[in-house]
Amino acid sequence: MTDEKGNRAGLLSRATLVSRQKVSRNTHILDFEIDGTTNTPGPGQFYHVDCGGGREHLLRRPLGVHGMTAPEKGAARVRLMVEVVGWGTQRLCALEPGAEVGLMGPLGRGFTPPDGGRALLVSGGIGLAPLFFLASEMDKEGSDYDFLAGFRTGDDYYPALSDLKGNIEVFTDDGTVGAKGVVSEGAVRHIGNGDYSAVFACGPEAMMEAVADACEGSGVSCQVSLTSRMACGLGFCRSCVKEGRDGRNLCVCTEGPVFDSRDVKWNGVRS
Ligand SMILES: Cc1cc2nc3c(=O)[nH]c(=O)nc-3n(C[C@H](O)[C@H](O)[C@H](O)COP(=O)(O)OP(=O)(O)OC[C@H]3O[C@@H](n4cnc5c(N)ncnc54)[C@H](O)[C@@H]3O)c2cc1C
Ligand code: FES
Repeated sequence: MTDEKGNRAGLLSRATLVSRQKVSRNTHILDFEIDGTTNTPGPGQFYHVDCGGGREHLLRRPLGVHGMTAPEKGAARVRLMVEVVGWGTQRLCALEPGAEVGLMGPLGRGFTPPDGGRALLVSGGIGLAPLFFLASEMDKEGSDYDFLAGFRTGDDYYPALSDLKGNIEVFTDDGTVGAKGVVSEGAVRHIGNGDYSAVFACGPEAMMEAVADACEGSGVSCQVSLTSRMACGLGFCRSCVKEGRDGRNLCVCTEGPVFDSRDVKWNGVRS
């Protein structure tokens, strides 16, 4: 990503919104076309998105890649899955096709795909965004996996989950879709009973901690995608740093967002 002078070339682009679709209560799928890019982001990488607003809202917002069509005829399509939580995401999810936004990326270190065997993917809420992309890529490779997806309620459920080829199990807190309960409990049961080659988790920290703990107990490797408030997204400002288990700082934007769960210092709060 850096040239011989250390410049980060080709990271900034203007992207045109091609389509936007509301897919659940607070979540939209946005497809952007990026001209002249040769970047092909992998699952777990993210774009730092300029949501507009100038000096009032200076900071970009990090959003994971949800899907990607490889560059063709000079243009690539990138899919983002955006949950409305505040000013920036609200603004993105109100854009109409034809609108332009500034993207920086793809950034960060994504998931390392499983090397054979059966994998377990565990998502909580919007943590679905990058794991759905990983699952789609695994479908292309013919890989085996179980995918456990947790939502607060059936209104948050993402119907496209049923298009994936893996074994999908859905959990909602109120039981309106799938099994009633939290996804971390389902994951702990699966890890205890299953014979997984690798586990991938993205969602609330307490959920990832429970998954990481079960994996450590069973000797299964686990990759987690951390979230953090980000400013530069490039490793300079240190605003995204989290504490690592060995006392080392983990720079979420450049060394992550995906980490080996054993490198993370968890807070000891479980869901
Ligand atoms: C690597 C990475 C990938 C992400 N991928 C996605 C994705 O694919 N889809 C998606 O919808 N969201 C994703 N997020 C979270 C997203 O960046 C935040 O929801 C967004 O920045 C909020 O911006 P806002 O202006 O709407 O909210 P703000 O007005 O800035 O904040 C509103 C609320 O959102 C919370 N918030 C703000 N930033 C974050 C953050 N980085 N992580 C968690 N909560 C935050 C605040 O605490 C506050 O409660 C990702 C975050 C990271 C770090
Ligand atoms: S956001 Fe600046 S160092 Fe990570």
